Amino acid sequence: MSGEDLNKLSVKLQIQEEIFGTELFQKIEGLNDLAETLNAVPLPQANKKVETQPKIEKVTPARSYIPEPSKAVLPQPAVTKFASVDATQFSKITSLTEFNELICECQKCPLGKTRNKFVFGSGNHNAKVMVVGEGPGADEDASGLPFVGRAGELLTKMMAAIGFSREEIFIANVVKCRPPGNRTPNDSEITECLPYLLKQIQLIKPVMILCAGTTAIQALMGRKGSLGSFRSQFYNLEDALVLATYHPAALIRNPEWKKPAWEDLKMFRSKYNELTGEIFEIKG
Ligand code: URA
Repeated sequence: MSGEDLNKLSVKLQIQEEIFGTELFQKIEGLNDLAETLNAVPLPQANKKVETQPKIEKVTPARSYIPEPSKAVLPQPAVTKFASVDATQFSKITSLTEFNELICECQKCPLGKTRNKFVFGSGNHNAKVMVVGEGPGADEDASGLPFVGRAGELLTKMMAAIGFSREEIFIANVVKCRPPGNRTPNDSEITECLPYLLKQIQLIKPVMILCAGTTAIQALMGRKGSLGSFRSQFYNLEDALVLATYHPAALIRNPEWKKPAWEDLKMFRSKYNELTGEIFEIKG
Protein backbone atom coordinates (compact mmCIF):
# COMPACT_ATOMS: atom_id res chain seq x y z
CA MET A 1 0.00 0.00 0.00
CA SER A 2 1.41 3.45 -0.91
CA GLY A 3 1.87 6.21 1.67
CA GLU A 4 -0.97 8.18 0.03
CA ASP A 5 -3.38 5.20 0.25
CA LEU A 6 -2.42 4.71 3.84
CA ASN A 7 -3.12 8.39 4.59
CA LYS A 8 -6.60 8.02 3.05
CA LEU A 9 -7.21 4.88 5.09
CA SER A 10 -6.07 6.70 8.21
CA VAL A 11 -8.59 9.53 7.65
CA LYS A 12 -11.39 7.00 7.11
CA LEU A 13 -10.48 5.15 10.24
CA GLN A 14 -10.44 8.37 12.24
CA ILE A 15 -13.97 9.11 11.06
CA GLN A 16 -15.05 5.58 11.99
CA GLU A 17 -13.45 6.02 15.37
CA GLU A 18 -15.50 9.16 15.97
CA ILE A 19 -18.68 7.25 15.15
CA PHE A 20 -18.02 3.88 16.72
CA GLY A 21 -15.37 4.58 19.33
CA THR A 22 -11.86 3.27 19.63
CA GLU A 23 -12.76 -0.39 20.24
CA LEU A 24 -12.74 -0.85 16.51
CA PHE A 25 -8.99 -0.41 16.47
CA GLN A 26 -8.21 -3.10 18.95
CA LYS A 27 -8.97 -5.57 16.20
CA ILE A 28 -6.61 -4.05 13.61
CA GLU A 29 -3.36 -5.17 15.11
CA GLY A 30 -0.17 -4.26 13.32
CA LEU A 31 -1.65 -1.42 11.30
CA ASN A 32 0.16 1.22 13.34
CA ASP A 33 3.44 -0.58 12.71
CA LEU A 34 2.71 -0.55 8.99
CA ALA A 35 2.08 3.19 9.10
CA GLU A 36 5.39 3.73 10.82
CA THR A 37 7.22 1.62 8.28
CA LEU A 38 5.83 3.62 5.39
CA ASN A 39 6.48 6.89 7.22
CA ALA A 40 2.86 7.94 6.74
CA VAL A 41 0.40 9.77 8.98
CA PRO A 42 0.14 7.69 12.14
CA LEU A 43 -3.14 5.95 12.76
CA PRO A 44 -5.25 6.79 15.77
CA GLN A 45 -3.99 4.97 18.84
CA ALA A 46 -6.04 1.96 19.81
CA ASN A 47 -7.31 1.88 23.38
CA LYS A 48 -4.77 -0.11 25.28
CA LYS A 49 -6.56 -2.75 27.34
CA VAL A 50 -4.92 -2.69 30.72
CA GLU A 51 -5.96 -5.76 32.66
CA THR A 52 -5.54 -4.41 36.16
CA GLN A 53 -7.54 -5.68 39.10
CA PRO A 54 -9.57 -2.74 40.39
CA LYS A 55 -8.87 -1.89 44.02
CA ILE A 56 -11.66 -2.44 46.49
CA GLU A 57 -12.06 0.43 48.87
CA LYS A 58 -13.53 -0.39 52.26
CA VAL A 59 -16.04 2.12 53.48
CA THR A 60 -17.72 2.30 56.83
CA PRO A 61 -21.40 1.64 56.24
CA ALA A 62 -22.98 5.02 55.66
CA ARG A 63 -25.21 5.26 58.70
CA SER A 64 -25.73 8.95 58.24
CA TYR A 65 -25.40 11.17 55.25
CA ILE A 66 -22.54 13.60 55.63
CA PRO A 67 -23.26 16.99 54.12
CA GLU A 68 -20.56 19.34 52.88
CA PRO A 69 -18.98 21.34 55.72
CA SER A 70 -20.69 24.50 54.48
CA LYS A 71 -24.04 22.82 54.97
CA ALA A 72 -23.16 21.21 58.26
CA VAL A 73 -26.09 22.69 60.13
CA LEU A 74 -29.08 20.83 58.84
CA PRO A 75 -32.67 21.73 59.57
CA GLN A 76 -34.02 19.50 62.32
CA PRO A 77 -36.58 16.93 61.17
CA ALA A 78 -40.19 17.80 61.85
CA VAL A 79 -41.50 15.99 64.88
CA THR A 80 -44.18 13.60 63.71
CA LYS A 81 -45.16 10.15 64.79
CA PHE A 82 -42.62 8.88 62.28
CA ALA A 83 -39.82 10.75 63.97
CA SER A 84 -40.06 7.85 66.41
CA VAL A 85 -39.40 5.30 63.66
CA ASP A 86 -35.82 4.91 64.71
CA ALA A 87 -33.12 2.31 64.41
CA THR A 88 -34.42 0.46 67.51
CA GLN A 89 -37.74 -0.12 65.80
CA PHE A 90 -36.00 -1.09 62.60
CA SER A 91 -34.06 -3.78 64.39
CA LYS A 92 -37.29 -5.70 65.07
CA ILE A 93 -38.22 -5.69 61.40
CA THR A 94 -37.27 -8.85 59.57
CA SER A 95 -39.03 -8.57 56.22
CA LEU A 96 -39.35 -5.98 53.48
CA THR A 97 -43.13 -6.26 53.51
CA GLU A 98 -43.25 -5.44 57.21
CA PHE A 99 -40.77 -2.63 56.66
CA ASN A 100 -42.83 -1.09 53.88
CA GLU A 101 -45.90 -1.15 56.13
CA LEU A 102 -43.98 0.63 58.86
CA ILE A 103 -42.63 3.47 56.76
CA CYS A 104 -45.05 3.92 53.84
CA GLU A 105 -46.87 6.85 55.42
CA CYS A 106 -43.68 8.64 56.36
CA GLN A 107 -43.91 12.40 56.88
CA LYS A 108 -40.40 12.94 58.21
CA CYS A 109 -39.51 15.44 55.50
CA PRO A 110 -41.51 17.89 53.37
CA LEU A 111 -41.58 15.47 50.41
CA GLY A 112 -44.21 13.49 52.31
CA LYS A 113 -46.69 16.31 51.81
CA THR A 114 -46.20 16.71 48.08
CA ARG A 115 -45.93 13.07 47.01
CA ASN A 116 -48.77 11.08 45.49
CA LYS A 117 -47.29 7.67 46.25
CA PHE A 118 -44.52 6.50 48.52
CA VAL A 119 -42.11 4.52 46.32
CA PHE A 120 -40.64 1.83 48.56
CA GLY A 121 -38.84 -0.08 45.79
CA SER A 122 -39.68 -3.28 43.98
CA GLY A 123 -38.32 -6.63 42.92
CA ASN A 124 -36.94 -9.80 44.46
CA HIS A 125 -36.76 -9.64 48.25
CA ASN A 126 -33.79 -12.01 48.16
CA ALA A 127 -32.07 -10.32 45.24
CA LYS A 128 -28.34 -10.77 44.78
CA VAL A 129 -28.26 -7.48 42.91
CA MET A 130 -29.73 -4.15 43.97
CA VAL A 131 -29.91 -1.03 41.85
CA VAL A 132 -30.16 2.28 43.68
CA GLY A 133 -31.42 5.43 41.97
CA GLU A 134 -31.94 8.95 43.20
CA GLY A 135 -35.64 9.35 43.79
CA PRO A 136 -39.02 8.89 42.12
CA GLY A 137 -39.99 10.99 39.11
CA ALA A 138 -43.50 11.79 37.93
CA ASP A 139 -44.25 8.29 36.58
CA GLU A 140 -42.97 6.62 39.73
CA ASP A 141 -44.89 9.05 41.95
CA ALA A 142 -48.07 8.18 40.06
CA SER A 143 -47.56 4.40 40.05
CA GLY A 144 -45.74 3.83 43.36
CA LEU A 145 -43.07 1.80 41.54
CA PRO A 146 -39.42 2.74 40.90
CA PHE A 147 -37.94 3.33 37.46
CA VAL A 148 -41.05 2.91 35.33
CA GLY A 149 -40.65 5.96 33.08
CA ARG A 150 -38.23 6.46 30.17
CA ALA A 151 -35.19 6.20 32.39
CA GLY A 152 -36.67 3.02 33.82
CA GLU A 153 -37.02 1.50 30.36
CA LEU A 154 -33.38 2.20 29.68
CA LEU A 155 -32.36 0.80 33.07
CA THR A 156 -34.27 -2.41 32.32
CA LYS A 157 -32.38 -2.75 29.01
CA MET A 158 -29.03 -1.98 30.63
CA MET A 159 -29.53 -4.67 33.26
CA ALA A 160 -30.84 -7.16 30.68
CA ALA A 161 -27.69 -6.57 28.61
CA ILE A 162 -25.64 -7.97 31.49
CA GLY A 163 -28.06 -10.81 32.15
CA PHE A 164 -30.27 -9.50 34.95
CA SER A 165 -34.05 -9.35 34.60
CA ARG A 166 -36.03 -6.84 36.65
CA GLU A 167 -37.74 -9.72 38.45
CA GLU A 168 -34.50 -11.06 39.88
CA ILE A 169 -33.08 -7.76 41.12
CA PHE A 170 -34.37 -5.22 43.64
CA ILE A 171 -34.64 -1.56 42.63
CA ALA A 172 -34.83 1.21 45.21
CA ASN A 173 -34.07 4.89 45.53
CA VAL A 174 -32.22 7.10 47.99
CA VAL A 175 -35.42 9.05 48.68
CA LYS A 176 -38.79 7.35 48.57
CA CYS A 177 -40.89 10.38 47.64
CA ARG A 178 -40.72 12.56 44.55
CA PRO A 179 -38.92 15.87 44.92
CA PRO A 180 -41.17 18.49 43.25
CA GLY A 181 -40.21 19.17 39.65
CA ASN A 182 -37.79 16.23 39.79
CA ARG A 183 -35.15 18.33 41.48
CA THR A 184 -32.26 16.57 43.23
CA PRO A 185 -33.19 15.72 46.81
CA ASN A 186 -31.47 18.00 49.30
CA ASP A 187 -29.15 16.93 52.13
CA SER A 188 -31.84 17.09 54.75
CA GLU A 189 -34.24 14.92 52.72
CA ILE A 190 -31.46 12.42 52.07
CA THR A 191 -30.50 12.35 55.75
CA GLU A 192 -34.09 11.54 56.72
CA CYS A 193 -34.61 8.86 54.10
CA LEU A 194 -31.24 7.12 53.93
CA PRO A 195 -31.84 4.88 56.98
CA TYR A 196 -34.71 3.32 55.01
CA LEU A 197 -32.40 2.38 52.15
CA LEU A 198 -29.76 1.06 54.55
CA LYS A 199 -32.35 -1.12 56.28
CA GLN A 200 -33.50 -2.40 52.86
CA ILE A 201 -29.90 -3.35 52.10
CA GLN A 202 -29.59 -5.14 55.45
CA LEU A 203 -32.77 -7.11 54.81
CA ILE A 204 -32.02 -8.04 51.20
CA LYS A 205 -28.31 -8.71 51.73
CA PRO A 206 -27.37 -8.29 48.06
CA VAL A 207 -24.03 -9.49 46.75
CA MET A 208 -23.65 -6.33 44.68
CA ILE A 209 -25.21 -2.89 44.43
CA LEU A 210 -25.20 -0.73 41.31
CA CYS A 211 -25.57 2.97 42.08
CA ALA A 212 -27.25 4.83 39.25
CA GLY A 213 -25.93 8.37 39.40
CA THR A 214 -24.12 10.70 41.74
CA THR A 215 -26.83 11.09 44.37
CA ALA A 216 -26.97 7.33 44.97
CA ILE A 217 -23.23 6.78 45.32
CA GLN A 218 -22.73 9.91 47.46
CA ALA A 219 -25.51 8.85 49.80
CA LEU A 220 -24.22 5.29 50.23
CA MET A 221 -20.61 6.37 50.67
CA GLY A 222 -21.59 9.21 53.02
CA ARG A 223 -19.50 11.76 51.21
CA LYS A 224 -19.65 14.22 48.35
CA GLY A 225 -17.73 13.79 45.11
CA SER A 226 -18.18 13.78 41.37
CA LEU A 227 -19.43 10.62 39.68
CA GLY A 228 -16.05 10.42 37.96
CA SER A 229 -14.29 10.28 41.32
CA PHE A 230 -16.41 7.27 42.36
CA ARG A 231 -16.56 5.29 39.09
CA SER A 232 -14.44 2.26 38.14
CA GLN A 233 -13.88 1.27 41.75
CA PHE A 234 -15.65 -1.23 44.02
CA TYR A 235 -16.60 -0.26 47.55
CA ASN A 236 -17.62 -2.48 50.44
CA LEU A 237 -20.94 -1.70 52.07
CA GLU A 238 -22.43 -4.14 54.57
CA ASP A 239 -21.52 -7.40 52.83
CA ALA A 240 -22.01 -6.05 49.34
CA LEU A 241 -19.72 -4.61 46.70
CA VAL A 242 -20.89 -1.29 45.33
CA LEU A 243 -20.15 0.18 41.90
CA ALA A 244 -21.26 3.55 40.53
CA THR A 245 -22.36 4.31 37.00
CA TYR A 246 -24.29 6.96 35.13
CA HIS A 247 -27.97 7.52 35.86
CA PRO A 248 -30.06 6.31 32.88
CA ALA A 249 -31.74 9.73 32.64
CA ALA A 250 -28.26 11.25 32.20
CA LEU A 251 -27.54 8.70 29.47
CA ILE A 252 -30.71 9.73 27.64
CA ARG A 253 -29.55 13.35 27.75
CA ASN A 254 -25.91 12.51 26.94
CA PRO A 255 -25.77 9.46 24.65
CA GLU A 256 -21.97 9.81 24.39
CA TRP A 257 -21.78 8.53 27.99
CA LYS A 258 -23.31 5.18 26.98
CA LYS A 259 -19.92 3.78 26.07
CA PRO A 260 -18.29 4.38 29.47
CA ALA A 261 -21.54 3.23 31.11
CA TRP A 262 -21.24 -0.03 29.18
CA GLU A 263 -17.70 -0.45 30.54
CA ASP A 264 -19.11 -0.03 34.07
CA LEU A 265 -21.80 -2.62 33.44
CA LYS A 266 -19.30 -5.14 32.09
CA MET A 267 -17.09 -4.55 35.12
CA PHE A 268 -20.11 -5.04 37.38
CA ARG A 269 -21.10 -8.31 35.69
CA SER A 270 -17.64 -9.83 35.64
CA LYS A 271 -17.19 -9.11 39.36
CA TYR A 272 -20.61 -10.65 39.97
CA ASN A 273 -19.60 -13.77 37.99
CA GLU A 274 -16.42 -13.95 40.05
CA LEU A 275 -18.26 -13.62 43.39
CA THR A 276 -21.12 -16.00 42.67
CA GLY A 277 -19.58 -18.48 40.24
CA GLU A 278 -22.50 -17.77 37.89
CA ILE A 279 -21.52 -17.35 34.27
CA PHE A 280 -22.97 -14.87 31.83
CA GLU A 281 -21.03 -14.17 28.66
CA ILE A 282 -21.19 -10.51 27.73
CA LYS A 283 -21.35 -9.75 24.04
CA GLY A 284 -19.48 -6.67 22.90
N1 URA B 1 -35.05 8.16 38.54
C1 URA B 1 -34.65 7.62 39.72
O1 URA B 1 -33.59 7.93 40.22
N2 URA B 1 -35.45 6.76 40.28
C2 URA B 1 -36.62 6.38 39.78
O2 URA B 1 -37.30 5.56 40.38
C3 URA B 1 -37.00 6.94 38.54
C4 URA B 1 -36.19 7.82 37.92
